[in-house]
Amino acid sequence: MKVRIDKSGCVGNARCAAVADALFPLDDDGYIAIEAFDVPAGQEKAAKNGARSCPERIIFVEEDDGTISWPPTKRA
Ligand code: F3S
Repeated sequence: MKVRIDKSGCVGNARCAAVADALFPLDDDGYIAIEAFDVPAGQEKAAKNGARSCPERIIFVEEDDGTISWPPTKRA
């Protein structure tokens, strides 16, 4: 599973970091600091929860088969 983040759409809600701060680090201004990462084994649920927590829906969850499982209506 991979996570990709449309950093340009981040408005600093910081909910992703509140849900899973190890996966979604923020920069000094409170915006998401990374654009993508491979989800470590066992962290899949935390990654999904973090993605779902973002009101801007700019955090994309890519399953191992390449499908985008989050957000449900938007395709990257
Ligand atoms: Fe940004 Fe969304 Fe996180 S707006 S700080 S990616 S909750």
